[in-house]
Amino acid sequence: MTDCFIYGGRTDAAPIVLVTSSNLSRATKKLTSQQINWLNQNAFTGKPGCLCAIPSEDGGVERYLVGIDDIEDPFAIADLPKRLPEGVYALEGSGVRSNLESLAVGWGLGSYSFTRYKKNGVIKAKLKLPNSSDHQRIQETVAATYRVRDLINTPAEDMMPQHLSAVVAELAQTHEAEFSEIVGDDLLAENYPSIHTVGRASVHPPRLIEMLWGNSKHPLVTLVGKGITFDSGGLDIKPAAGMRSMKKDMGGAAHAIGLAQLIMALELPVRLRLLVASAENAISSNAFRPGDVIRTRSGITVEIENTDAEGRLVLCDALSDACDEQPDLLVDFATLTGAARVAVGTEMAAYFCNDRELADLVRETGRETYDPTWELPLHKGYESYLKSHVADLQNAANTPFGGAITAALYLQRFVDDNVRWLHFDIMAWNNRARSGRPIGGEAMGMRAMLVALEKRYLK
Ligand code: BES
Ligand code: ZN
Ligand code: ZN
Repeated sequence: MTDCFIYGGRTDAAPIVLVTSSNLSRATKKLTSQQINWLNQNAFTGKPGCLCAIPSEDGGVERYLVGIDDIEDPFAIADLPKRLPEGVYALEGSGVRSNLESLAVGWGLGSYSFTRYKKNGVIKAKLKLPNSSDHQRIQETVAATYRVRDLINTPAEDMMPQHLSAVVAELAQTHEAEFSEIVGDDLLAENYPSIHTVGRASVHPPRLIEMLWGNSKHPLVTLVGKGITFDSGGLDIKPAAGMRSMKKDMGGAAHAIGLAQLIMALELPVRLRLLVASAENAISSNAFRPGDVIRTRSGITVEIENTDAEGRLVLCDALSDACDEQPDLLVDFATLTGAARVAVGTEMAAYFCNDRELADLVRETGRETYDPTWELPLHKGYESYLKSHVADLQNAANTPFGGAITAALYLQRFVDDNVRWLHFDIMAWNNRARSGRPIGGEAMGMRAMLVALEKRYLK
């Protein structure tokens, strides 16, 4: 749990005054001439990233000044927990009160470290929040992001389909949701052939994990996650450099689980269905092969062009199942293609959507939450790249171009036209450290999607 906050009470807190270069003179009005001298000698200009401790007469610290440029940006102060010494702090400055929730979330995200295998510098700076703030929303947003990061950062050996299943089962118990799953050969009996095909070579059997929560009278929101716990590429084996990061290939599942956790904790008025399609894409004598044909759950036959395009295979059976219930909204998250990162870089969540209003909403909430999202087109003209000589479809295009689009078009073939659908193709990983975002697993688009859901269903 996140213990980087202290709520109200009488605890003394060192003030952190947020200043922008334009309000520097106002912020320094209360200071003595010695203190202003100190600021100057420490080259404190109010530029973003500057931090200066102002000494008190007794040799302690009277307050901290921190330069920021955008007070609405939760990450403006998110590097502070790692820069400040142990202690309790409180934010001050113009605009702090109206942006406190987002700043506190930033503080929380910046207090994260992955400690399962190594004491990665436990952070001891705590932020004091006034009683008036929405503690629960702050706490739950931070906790869900930690959940996503922890799931992704955990090595494949300790994060196989059965581990994802245990996480969902526990979550279901906490929130009084129904949990069920279909494991191993039962996937064949229950008609999820493509999930089974991808996962059959692993000693850890594949699973379709399901959770159902909420009032059945509320609109149904179905979340689907790609839970490939390790993507070796299968027989069309991945080059070493690409394989190195593939413990994160369950990142989509982590996002779907994290968002489900948020929806339940914040009690959104929806009926929630979570489907995690989980398998290890392993190599063994019984592995699926290029040229094999799968008769998928929907009846559409798919020729395997490349066993490394496995995400869309586990997802297609889950999406067909999801559509049977005619959800009001169907959202899937997947680390689906390398091409999405070529298109938008590694720090934005690319998405595709068959509904204009929803697409615009997610773009907008991405901007508002500083959780950047960018829409890519479901360009019908590229559908012909998925034609196969022997089956209805092939699982990958024979061109290196537009890979995120052809993958999304593949998925769309399994989604009913009358189901509102949004597909996230995400990186789920920080390649470099930024304020509040350490290297490693990351939630991308999850906060944006939560706010989009709130705007749609909390009216
Ligand atoms: N998990 C990968 C995609 C991926 C790679 C996501 C790197 C994030 C970072 C996926 O299963 C895959 O291997 N996709 C192939 C598809 C290709 C074979 C058509 C890709 O993108 O190269
Ligand atoms: Zn792959
Ligand atoms: Zn993959």
